[in-house]
Amino acid sequence: MLMLCCWCLLAAMACIAAAGPAMEGVPWTYAEQQLWPLRWPACGGPRQSPTRLDAQLLQLGSRPQLSFAQRLHAGRVHATNTGHTLQLRLEAGGAERTAPLVTLSAEGAPLSGTYRLEQLHFHWGNASGGAGSEHQLGGRLADAEAHFVFFGSQFANGSAAARQSDGLAVLAVLLEGRGAAGPDTLRWPPLGLQGRLAALAAVGSRLTVAADLRPLAALLRRAVRSVLAYGGSLTTPPCSPVVRWLVALRPAVVPRELLRELSSSLYAAGPGRQLLHNNRRWLQVRHHRLVVQHVSFD
Ligand SMILES: *[C@@H]1O[C@H](CO)[C@@H](O)[C@H](O)[C@H]1NC(C)=O
Ligand SMILES: *[C@@H]1O[C@H](CO)[C@@H](O)[C@H](O)[C@H]1NC(C)=O
Repeated sequence: MLMLCCWCLLAAMACIAAAGPAMEGVPWTYAEQQLWPLRWPACGGPRQSPTRLDAQLLQLGSRPQLSFAQRLHAGRVHATNTGHTLQLRLEAGGAERTAPLVTLSAEGAPLSGTYRLEQLHFHWGNASGGAGSEHQLGGRLADAEAHFVFFGSQFANGSAAARQSDGLAVLAVLLEGRGAAGPDTLRWPPLGLQGRLAALAAVGSRLTVAADLRPLAALLRRAVRSVLAYGGSLTTPPCSPVVRWLVALRPAVVPRELLRELSSSLYAAGPGRQLLHNNRRWLQVRHHRLVVQHVSFD
């Protein structure tokens, strides 16, 4: 036992020694997240995500505004298995191909400035279902969680923005595979991916599908009407504490088959051939961070 622990410590120290200044390409796994702070000190810092959230201080009427490119009906979805998640980049049709697809802006609360959507990606559990979300809302984890990653429009891209305080804004939507959609739930749109995830089995594989993006725009519009906002971090290394989090209070219902497909089709980065599942970071201590609920009725 003692030998084993010494070995762990030595292995961890060797890892630190091997980590140079350029750590963005350093491999990591969810199974070893207790080691993240050794290589990426911010992962052990005070402003980390995800965290437990419950309804807090209420602010009525202030919420971010969303704007969308016009040709969303002729959109495309570029999907990638990054080895840690399924990442989607969206593209509007026709001449608007290079215009910002979704823009989020607000003045003062719950964030300040204009942000552009860069990508969205997912965190999920395993084929036995349950507990795949990162944030815990009202005392429970959801089946999965979607993160819409926006970067401050004054930056060239997401990586440049991730070096600045509040450079990123992430809208999180919790996903539930159980139950029927009620008046308060959102409905996750198909996006042309269901039944096709086997094409993304290998790490680094890509798939482009044509999809009508208007249902996704409708979901985003409803999601931002009621959010819990707090200051946190990336939930993957290097855990940069630069994210304004907006967690939608309404979950979205997804088909159970899509969740099953997600947790059994993709393989993960790392040694051996491991399924990509349970790709969620553990809950982090909230400390004294304020969580504000923003609600609007328009
Ligand atoms: C699924 O994940 C849960 C929670 O992490 C774990 O307890 C369970 O053993 C896993 N099941 C399978 C089949 O991997
Ligand atoms: C992001 O922008 C920075 C600064 O302009 C640039 O150096 C870098 O290459 C860009 N990265 C990507 C992935 O485009």
